[in-house]
Amino acid sequence: MSVSMPTAELWVERWERQQQRYAFDREERFTVVADVVEHVTMGHDSPRVLDLGCGPGSLPARLIKRLPTAEIVAVDMDPLLLALARTRHSRAARYVEAVIGEDGWTGALGLRRPVDAVVSTTALHYLPEGVLRRTYAELTGLLRPGGVLINADHLPLEGEGFVEIAEYVGTRRAERQHAFDHEDWETWWSAVEKEPELTGLCAERRKRRSAHAGRPVTLGRHIELLAEAGFGPANPVWQVGNSYVLVAVRR
Ligand SMILES: C[S@@+](CC[C@H](N)C(=O)[O-])C[C@H]1O[C@@H](n2cnc3c(N)ncnc32)[C@H](O)[C@@H]1O
Repeated sequence: MSVSMPTAELWVERWERQQQRYAFDREERFTVVADVVEHVTMGHDSPRVLDLGCGPGSLPARLIKRLPTAEIVAVDMDPLLLALARTRHSRAARYVEAVIGEDGWTGALGLRRPVDAVVSTTALHYLPEGVLRRTYAELTGLLRPGGVLINADHLPLEGEGFVEIAEYVGTRRAERQHAFDHEDWETWWSAVEKEPELTGLCAERRKRRSAHAGRPVTLGRHIELLAEAGFGPANPVWQVGNSYVLVAVRR
């Protein structure tokens, strides 16, 4: 099912604004992800990148502007968001529908060679710890040695009071940026449901969508899981409140 350009432009633009409520300094965070990809692929003719949970193509659209020769594969499980991406940002990536963590999902990507970077924005917090553990192990098989996993997401901190402090800092930052003036997630989705051109995709999405549950995985636990999976050191290279860009290097 395809979507016309005017419809895709409308809903992707609305998505971009909606997501600013949740990802503090979202644009800056995308830029930091691109900085890291640029750094690890310096001198490469055609950097190879895999985006996990790409939604309507927000990160591929930014990455391809910075790295125009990059080959980006972008995966998501949502047929509606993928349809918007395939129209609005068609040239930024090759889009694949698959559920990260399900049996066979890495095969569905059709990667012929290892990638230089696996990137993700505001998506991996959906994965419960068991799925994340498996996924990190699988990613070591997709990355070249020296390649990186770059996860830009909100990750709770450990230690008494720190969850609240980090959330508070992020919330105050968001208020200063008027992020709460933007519509929220529920409003965006209920408006999409009323878009006549997207009726079929909304029905498709309802059929396929599997619920993910589980306690959010803390920053410290992400770092432990990455080490267990065989990654080298993992460190945040950027932070605002509980929003991070966490980078792990494949040994
Ligand atoms: C909040 S959106 C972020 C989208 C985009 N990366 C961005 O920054 O705008 C989270 C995305 O992760 C996707 N997602 C969550 N769990 C997934 C899974 N197990 N497999 C594939 N996609 C998943 C959702 O469908 C959704 O598109």
